Amino acid sequence: MKIVLITGASSGIGHATALRLAREGHHVVLGARREDRLAALAKEIHDAGGTADVHRLDVTDRAEVAAFADAAVAAHGRLDVFVANAGVMPLSRLDSLHVDEWDRMLDVNVRGLLHGIAAALPHFRRARAGHFVTIASTGAYEVVPTAAVYCATKYAARAITEGLRLEADPGIRVTTVSPGVVESELADTITEPGAREAMRTYRAVTLPPDTIARAISYAIGQPDGVDVNELVVRPTAQR
Ligand SMILES: NC(=O)c1ccc[n+]([C@@H]2O[C@H](COP(=O)([O-])OP(=O)(O)OC[C@H]3O[C@@H](n4cnc5c(N)ncnc54)[C@H](OP(=O)(O)O)[C@@H]3O)[C@@H](O)[C@H]2O)c1
Repeated sequence: MKIVLITGASSGIGHATALRLAREGHHVVLGARREDRLAALAKEIHDAGGTADVHRLDVTDRAEVAAFADAAVAAHGRLDVFVANAGVMPLSRLDSLHVDEWDRMLDVNVRGLLHGIAAALPHFRRARAGHFVTIASTGAYEVVPTAAVYCATKYAARAITEGLRLEADPGIRVTTVSPGVVESELADTITEPGAREAMRTYRAVTLPPDTIARAISYAIGQPDGVDVNELVVRPTAQR
């Protein structure tokens, strides 16, 4: 049984990951801004015989992310896995100059990830063990029109996570999971009509979010000495 913290657990991939890992016997600690969603998810987990804590969490606030990790350690004595999953994707062309949306993606997808590392790493170093899981994207491997900034945040997430692997104590494991198109609320944040329309076609074939939960489960289920570093999971039909 591991103590697993998940950011962005209120919908999509984070939600599915919480359900799967709780079902597999892990204690999950759920963070996101929509507390009503987290409470409903925790109830579902408890009703099924699992255990979960919930915390209102905005990953752009460094102190909140630190408190999220510290509270888990105070309550359970340790933190085994931190899943940095929270993300936003308001796609648009660069010449639309949706600068506030660029900032939002940098704040959540990059700074939020760094806040997670800053929160988890001291506990992992003390324990000389721990597992950091970053949810990147196939956008961490290729850039497509309307997704320059989003892809940049995911390239950054992959680079930062690889840097963590290289620098971390040998007892600390590091995994980047990069999903292709997965059913979730992610495209709802797109405000530009053209990008929204293009995404409708691009997202016609999706994987269920539990597919990504299974990949995370695989990575954290390996023996201590086995470090699964990168998993790309996309629909067979995705090009
Ligand atoms: N779905 C895909 O096709 C796909 C593909 C590749 C990568 N990904 C990545 O997968 C991750 C999960 O996305 P998803 O597809 O499951 O989308 P989603 O359903 O929109 O979930 C995103 C989650 O992030 C949380 N979040 C957003 N801003 C936050 C903030 N400031 N602080 C804390 N939590 C925040 C949301 O919770 P609240 O709004 O309640 O805070 C929500 O739980 C993201 O990193 C995304 O980039 C998704």
